[in-house]
Amino acid sequence: MARKSKFQAPTGMHDILPEDQPYYQRVFQVGEEIAQFYGFQRIETPILENLELYEKGTGASTDIVEKQMFTLKTKGGDMLALRPEFTPGIARAYFEHGMVDRPHPVKLYATGPVFRYEHPQSGRYRQFHQFNLEVFGEQSAAIDAQVIQMFYSMLSDLKFSHLIIEVNSIGDSQCRPYYKKLLANYFRTRQNALCADCKRRLRINVLRVLDCKEEKCQRVRAQAPQIIDHLCDECKRHFRSLLEFLDETDLPYHLDPYLVRGLDYYTKTVFEIFSERLAQQEQEGGVSRNALVAGGRYDNLLKLYGGKEVPAFGGAVGVERVAEGMRRFGFPAVHEIVPRVFLAQLGDLPKKKSIRLIEEFRKARIPLAESLGRDSLRAQLARADKLEVQYTLILGQREVLDNTIVIRRMDTGEQETVPSERVVEEIRRRLKKI
Ligand code: HAM
Repeated sequence: MARKSKFQAPTGMHDILPEDQPYYQRVFQVGEEIAQFYGFQRIETPILENLELYEKGTGASTDIVEKQMFTLKTKGGDMLALRPEFTPGIARAYFEHGMVDRPHPVKLYATGPVFRYEHPQSGRYRQFHQFNLEVFGEQSAAIDAQVIQMFYSMLSDLKFSHLIIEVNSIGDSQCRPYYKKLLANYFRTRQNALCADCKRRLRINVLRVLDCKEEKCQRVRAQAPQIIDHLCDECKRHFRSLLEFLDETDLPYHLDPYLVRGLDYYTKTVFEIFSERLAQQEQEGGVSRNALVAGGRYDNLLKLYGGKEVPAFGGAVGVERVAEGMRRFGFPAVHEIVPRVFLAQLGDLPKKKSIRLIEEFRKARIPLAESLGRDSLRAQLARADKLEVQYTLILGQREVLDNTIVIRRMDTGEQETVPSERVVEEIRRRLKKI
């Protein structure tokens, strides 16, 4: 039971306890298997980056940069920010390390904590983890479809079912400005029917009015012009091609004309993946529906950092949301190693000998439990019983002097003394028989 302590973790930040670790490990394990199969290489970037990287990339007027950054000034006067997402840091590293000269596409994956000063609620934290994929240097919609497929496979390998992929195209610098004008004109004439936040969004980024969750704004939105009808030829072709690829893979997708995403760098494809089962529970619990994965194409971001146009596509899994879903639905996590042998020692000399013996079992890859802090045989056998091991090894003074060890079969209580140099092999042989 939790006890009151003088200190708690900061608001919106959580300890990931030993009992939760197998879920997190499973998410990373499945993600890495898929990433490596598809030729992605791991990259690690610093948790802190220059604040300007996010202001320029993620976008100075986005919620993330405007309201959710954890920033600090170094003693030398640099303004740094705890990363609120991976994409800008990885794009910076791409240029900084000359990856632009490597064979393309350059495919990178990254995992780790990210930080956003959010209003904490279910599925929304101030420190959370992402599993992130980025592909640099590929224009074809085949890559959009393949990365979406990878995230979908990851969730289904983790045993999520009833998944739905929402996709949209938000155009590019050719067609979006005109569409934004149209949209702004439409909403401006209906301003009074919008919530206060949307009135502000109307001035800063009118696209964000489209994904407002307020019912009254959604009523106004229903008649708004849709970007799909105003894409330029290039974006239309790209989007059509993406849908053809998705049809070919049989992925369950849904075209959501209101999906716009809250980061500035996206062009053309944007997507989010939801679990319908989780979303239903969230709805019943009165919280908003949370995406498990989100991402899209960002063909203009790299030019901002490195001066060279490099098309890019990527996305990120919200690891907390996925791990919590797995636990809630009872999906399998990483198997814990269950020891089948216990070592009981009696006295100082046996305890000293035990250290080397334990290491022999480790080298032989036979999981073994012990309780070196306990002295009485009864207490140690009780522990062995609790762990439900098949065998307990008993090492007393006499055994040490004789260079032997006792093997006790736990179900029958039968005991046999064997030479200590043979004990690892004996145990291996017996475990094989079970
Ligand atoms: P994002 O939509 O901001 O995109 O975040 C991706 C995922 O992180 C979300 O779908 C969600 O599962 C999880 N997430 C976001 N905020 C929170 C939070 N406060 N608490 C818990 N989980 C959260 C990006 O970060 C982009 N960088 C993705 C990307 C990569 N686009 C292109 N490449």
